[in-house]
Amino acid sequence: MTDTKLWHPFADMAAVRGDEFVLVRGEGVYVWDDAGNRYLDGCASLWYCNVGHGREEIAEAAAKQLRTLETWSIFGDVANPPALELAAKLSSVAPMDDAKVFFTTGGGDAIDTAAKFARLYWQTTGQPERLHVIARTNGYHGTMAFGTSIGGMPAVRQGWGPLVPETSQVQWDSPQALRDEIERLGAERVAAFFCEPVMGAGGVFPPPAGYIEEVAAICAETGVLLVIDAVITGFGRLGGWIGCERFGVRPDMVTFAKGVTSGYLPLGGVLVSGRVAEPFWSEPGKIMVRHGQTYSGHATVCAAALANIGIIERENLIPRGQELEADLWNALAPLRDHPLVGDVRGGTGLMGAVQLRDDILEADQGAGTKLYKAVRSHGVLTRAHGVGVALSPPLTVTVDQIREIGEAIRAGLDDLAAVSEAA
Ligand SMILES: Cc1ncc(COP(=O)(O)O)c(C=O)c1O
Repeated sequence: MTDTKLWHPFADMAAVRGDEFVLVRGEGVYVWDDAGNRYLDGCASLWYCNVGHGREEIAEAAAKQLRTLETWSIFGDVANPPALELAAKLSSVAPMDDAKVFFTTGGGDAIDTAAKFARLYWQTTGQPERLHVIARTNGYHGTMAFGTSIGGMPAVRQGWGPLVPETSQVQWDSPQALRDEIERLGAERVAAFFCEPVMGAGGVFPPPAGYIEEVAAICAETGVLLVIDAVITGFGRLGGWIGCERFGVRPDMVTFAKGVTSGYLPLGGVLVSGRVAEPFWSEPGKIMVRHGQTYSGHATVCAAALANIGIIERENLIPRGQELEADLWNALAPLRDHPLVGDVRGGTGLMGAVQLRDDILEADQGAGTKLYKAVRSHGVLTRAHGVGVALSPPLTVTVDQIREIGEAIRAGLDDLAAVSEAA
């Protein structure tokens, strides 16, 4: 194989060069590699392909828009029909009153936008000291400046030098830890709390019962803005449009990406409650918000999102994440008995994780990747997450296919066990 020039994200390029895995085609819950092997998609690629692969009507919608007007920047007063329609649609399903929709190109810039907007809101409404942003241990909010700084996975934070000051993490499962941190800082200095309804990339950690409700109450009590990071949990993954509906909370902002287009084209954004948007939307000539990306509101991307949402609605996929959660859990939970397994998590939404035993991970930091590759050799793609594999299949997956995912993980674990016995 010729040496690659493609620098892969989240990769050890010294190991990847000469050993790339090239995917060439997808249809439904299956994808094919360049050698013609078929794989069941157990992770919706990177948690995003909610409607499955190869959807003609998304391709058609994008092609039609490309032929009509590929796009035009929406800075200032310019708009385009798909961006207008998509904003109206997302506002109508948002779990907040009169939501306004700010488009970005992915989840990471949605996070940075929400963090900046939180600070700007307080600067604008007379509490400029409210700068501090709190998030949670194990949290993942992307790799841009704010996202890296508020992220709670130590390995992702390391090596970049000083991060954004006035950020901190609290214990992921303790409302009291949030309360203590707000008290330590003084509520008058805290701008926002960022919270994934189910933590995804950090290893799939569903919240303890009552957690989301309680942190929402603490935010409301202290005036801290509640930002729900729904980049993974949105568009049906937890059984609602955003993922926080099942906990009955109404956030001040929501970050979204991934499932909004099912990944057919890159898109993210922030839903901003009418209350938080109000200072910026009420008095012409007063506040100019100097923030945005070249491709915010890209017409073709928004057209693809509308077609994707059309499929989600027609096929009634939003409830699927909750309807299938017990099936995925039932497929994964028995793996707890496998001698190599340290933990299995899931049960809230169509998300799960199988983690290897601590001593295995201590002895071999590549063990998680080895498990991912072993499972892959049994025809199922999962998300390697360092300590094991994570699951989030397309919402179109069947119960039989969910069982196949569990069986392939067991087969992969058996392969690893056989290798370590032989060694
Ligand atoms: C919860 C969460 N927030 C933010 C991001 C960052 O999104 P992106 O990779 O599109 O920048 C991710 C990515 O996986 C995520 O899972």
